[in-house]
Order: sequence, then C-alpha cells, then structure tokens
Amino acid sequence: MLAKTLAGLEEILMEELQQIGATNIVQAKRAVAFDGDLEILYKSNYLCRTALRVLIPIKTVRVRDQAELYNQISKIDWSEYMQATDTLAIDSVANASAFSNSMFVSMKVKDAIVDQFRNKGGVRPSVDIENPSLRVNIHIFRDECTISLDSSGSSLHKRGYRLESNKAPLNEVLAAGLILLSGWDKKSNFVDPMCGSGTLLAEACMYAKNIPPAFFRREFSFYHWQGQYAFDRDLWDKIVTEAENNIIPLEAVIVGSDNAKSSVFITKDNLKSAGIREEVVVKTCAFQDSEAPEGKGVVIMNPPYGERMDKDNVVELYKSIGDTLKTKYQGYDAWIISSNREAVGSVGLKASKRLVIFNGPLECRYLKYEMYSGSKRVRPEVEE
Ligand SMILES: C[S@@+](CC[C@H](N)C(=O)[O-])C[C@H]1O[C@@H](n2cnc3c(N)ncnc32)[C@H](O)[C@@H]1O
Repeated sequence: MLAKTLAGLEEILMEELQQIGATNIVQAKRAVAFDGDLEILYKSNYLCRTALRVLIPIKTVRVRDQAELYNQISKIDWSEYMQATDTLAIDSVANASAFSNSMFVSMKVKDAIVDQFRNKGGVRPSVDIENPSLRVNIHIFRDECTISLDSSGSSLHKRGYRLESNKAPLNEVLAAGLILLSGWDKKSNFVDPMCGSGTLLAEACMYAKNIPPAFFRREFSFYHWQGQYAFDRDLWDKIVTEAENNIIPLEAVIVGSDNAKSSVFITKDNLKSAGIREEVVVKTCAFQDSEAPEGKGVVIMNPPYGERMDKDNVVELYKSIGDTLKTKYQGYDAWIISSNREAVGSVGLKASKRLVIFNGPLECRYLKYEMYSGSKRVRPEVEE
C-alpha cells in the first residue's frame, strides 16, 4: 500500500504506520509504502493522523501514448474490483510530455474500464465523481504508469469536525504533523497563542485523548468495495469499537488564544463540533499580553506570514513574539511555523531545531526554541 502525506511528514507517518502494525515500511517522496492486510488498510485510514490518502497499487506498466494507456488498462480484469452496475471515478496525476493533460488521462482510463464491461455483457459502469463505488488513482511519471485503488475517497485531512475556518487555516494533517514533530507528551501544557480557527488545538486535544483523526468521517471509498478487497463490515466495526474504547480523559491543560474575536468564535465552534469544547481553554488575547499556563509544556504557533502586512509590522510582530517567549514562556518548548524567513530571523532567539515543511505551496521553516531561564537573545538574522 502507499499512504500519501505532506512533504516533511514522511518520517512521522512511518512511525504511525509502525504503531498500527504495518510491515516493510519504506519512505517515498511525500508518501510511505508499506505492507499489510485489510485490517492495516482500515487502520491506516482511521488512525494515522498524518496520512492524506491510502492507495493500493494494483499494477505498474510502461505507457508511451494514450493508445498504450488504453491497452494496458484493458488488460486488467476490472471485475475483480467492481461490478458493471457500480459507479466509477478516476483521479490522475501525469508528469510526462505525452500526457500533458491529466483530464484526458482520466477519460482514457475510464473508457478502457467501461468498454471492458460493455464488451462482456452490455451493462457499463457510470461515472460518479463525488461518491463512486470505486475510485481509481493513476500516476504517470515519464513512461511509468501506476494504477491504484484509492481506499480513502476525499482527502483524510477532511476530518469531519471543521465547520468554519479563518483566512489561513492549517490543513489538519499538517497541524497533526506539527504536533507529532514537536514531541509533545500529551500530559504537559499545550498552547497555541495565535489559534485562528483552532486546528492545532483540536488536533492536539484529539491526539491527547486518543480520539481517532477520522472519528467524525462518514465516508471512505473502501465502504463500497466489491470483489477482492470487498468491505468487511465486522472487521471495520471491531477496529472502530477498539479505538473508541481506547479514548481517555484529557490530562493536559490545552490553551488557545487569538487577538481577533472572530477567530476565537470560530475556534469555539470547531471545538464544539469535535465534542471537545469544554476541554480547551479559549480566550481573546494578544500573544504579547498572554500568560503561560503554570508549569512546562509546548507552544506551537502559526503567526501570519505577512503577505497582507506592511514589512516593518511583520518584523515588529516576530520580534515581539521572541520577546514574549523569552520573558513569559520559560520552561516551554516553543515551535514557530512560518514561510517568512526574514521575519523569523527577527524572532531573535537561537533555534535548537530547524525543519523544512510545506504549507500548501509555501516552503516553511518549522523552528524549535527551548525557553529555559536565561535563554539568550541572538542578533536578528535571516534564517538559512
Ligand atoms: C495564520 S493564522 C493561524 C491559523 C491557525 N493555525 C488555523 O489553523 O486556523 C494567524 C492568526 O494569528 C492571529 N494573530 C496575529 N497577530 C496576533 C497577536 N499579536 N496575538 C494573537 N494573535 C494574533 C490572527 O488573528 C490569526 O488568526
């Protein structure tokens, strides 16, 4: 199988897959390959916080043009995976000069599958982009084409609890990845002082309580599967029940704040929708005026990157973040994610870890600052 993820989260996903019992785990580009049975497939969809979707590759073939693509798809016996009365959707990514338009690729693949059924018995599957019985994934790189079954359907970052978002919400998979990368122990304090729509807070709370990331999802592609990988309802129910029994009360103090009232409202609504509103303290407050919860813990913040701000104001904001961390957050590990390297330099603290993570198309730095009493300020510098 192949679990897709975001650039920079591959190693975390490998650990998650190991925890659910996957074997032969191999890192790939924005993905992790692994072995497992149906139980591992269901668990990877339900329990892995950093997986975007899980594919089952069924064949890799050489294709140099559309005709070869059609022929190769026709050679697969599609009745192993679906019936003529089922519906179908094709997602394609093509990185080859002969296949510059991925929509044409999808159409060609659809034609080959549909024609196979029609030639056999007259009835042909129809296309349903939104909610098909079988979602096929096509990946073409140069002349190598991998044909996979998509077990997830819509991307797994769509957890099902988010009602609203502010202007720049983090993808839920990215938020979960940032939390796992921070090494937070689920017991010490967790603070997001620029919480926006509350993604980090919701993901942190769900993680600490062992609430499965897909707890609120109503739909997976594998629900509709027939044939070789037909949906095993009993196995699925067993996995869901086991995971539910594993949910524990929250031990940590989780605090979120934002200086925009509108963000605080949205955060509260989203937490309510996830059933964890009572477990997270949420306040309207500028970070500079905030007080750290007593004790130790982790701060993760996703400040504005400054696209819509005056340059001096951005530098000033990041400088004040550094000042506030230094004076008020001693004993904490603070993590900042930002695509604005110049602004991050003006935090003026020495990072003990620097990771590169992509937030959508934006290349970001994810930096760790260990705030012990006597943390040194360093001269503002542009981050490498
Ligand atoms: C990029 S958004 C955070 C998005 C959030 N991680 C999410 O997933 O929705 C940045 C947030 O920082 C808040 N903010 C900006 N300056 C602030 C300050 N000085 N104190 C507190 N919040 C601030 C903004 O109101 C905005 O909601």
